[in-house]
Amino acid sequence: MDAPVVDAEGTAEITYGPPIAMLAEITHRCPLSCPYCSNPLELTKRDGELPTEIWVDVFRQAAELGVLQMHLSGGEPASRRDLEDLVTACRDHDLYSNLITSGIGLTEKRLTGLKERGLDHVQLSLQGVDAEMADLIGGYKGGYSRKMDVAGWTTSLDLPLTLNAVMHEKNIDRLPETIDLAVRMGARRLEVATVQFHGWAVKNRAALMPTREQAKLAGQRVAEARERLKGVLVIDYVPADHHADYPKPCMGGWGSTGLNIVPDGRVMPCHAAHTIPHLVFENVRDKPLADIWWKSEAFNAYRGFEWMQEPCRSCPRKARDFGGCRCQAMAIAGDAAATDPVCIKSPLHAQLQEAAEADAMSDGTLTFRTMPV
Ligand code: SF4
Ligand code: FES
Repeated sequence: MDAPVVDAEGTAEITYGPPIAMLAEITHRCPLSCPYCSNPLELTKRDGELPTEIWVDVFRQAAELGVLQMHLSGGEPASRRDLEDLVTACRDHDLYSNLITSGIGLTEKRLTGLKERGLDHVQLSLQGVDAEMADLIGGYKGGYSRKMDVAGWTTSLDLPLTLNAVMHEKNIDRLPETIDLAVRMGARRLEVATVQFHGWAVKNRAALMPTREQAKLAGQRVAEARERLKGVLVIDYVPADHHADYPKPCMGGWGSTGLNIVPDGRVMPCHAAHTIPHLVFENVRDKPLADIWWKSEAFNAYRGFEWMQEPCRSCPRKARDFGGCRCQAMAIAGDAAATDPVCIKSPLHAQLQEAAEADAMSDGTLTFRTMPV
């Protein structure tokens, strides 16, 4: 593609090039059971995962295609014994490697070894600001204390540390403590992500949906902390879109900057793309990655503007938010090409907000993630 795509009226333009970042979900296995897990209900078992040699070859293909950053994720990527070989492959192909981890499965020795193999960055999840909250949400006793150890080893090894805190009804009021903790842990960056309802998390909407007031206060707190902590901590913020008027530009636009490979080798434009039933995802076992990126039907399904319906098609914001999230449109409107119902111009916007208010007001019990054997 590598050229601008212009709409029929010539008023909006998107340029497509190669992907910059790849999320390699190397396993679905995970020792935690977070209720907001966005992985699919149906997880890939160990014997369905891509073997080391295929991942290594995929990393080579990704680098040739133009990928610069490799996010090693899961599940818990440390559950794979060949993590070291995969980090080596990233280094061999000049890919910046980021380990997205709960910390469980890492020891000081293993992390030191990973750094020696070329690991560039650690992104550690934070389920709460103290052991009581973190171990409850993660469903793993002792998880918080291990996380603190991993953060300490990471900074002692001089590896940049990012913390990833999912905010929801049960912890969003403790955002100021989360920010203070990130500073104390020596993180350079904190990602404050309001819970998104994909995969397993859908089961927990009523238990996790923050109220409109909570979401608004969180936004103000982030803005205040960003100002106060300039030069100390960078804060990325994913606001609560169920209480917003416009959607986020999900994935920066479908098939535009990033791709995900799931444990069994299927390649997807985003984390939840498998929820769009008519799309068929090609597999790196069968096709070169570059062909999948440039030519596959799934990647081309929502590129450009031709697929858009009204009100997106004639909307001046369409090159800014690309009509929002295709997976959310699928989940709520039943049509992945519909306007994301988060948008105030969507006929389903009022219904979405009412449902969010109702969930926020109800006291759902948490259903914890269960893992495949
Ligand atoms: Fe974005 Fe579509 Fe809403 Fe316009 S109508 S703001 S393009 S989601
Ligand atoms: Fe799939 Fe937003 S999660 S497009």
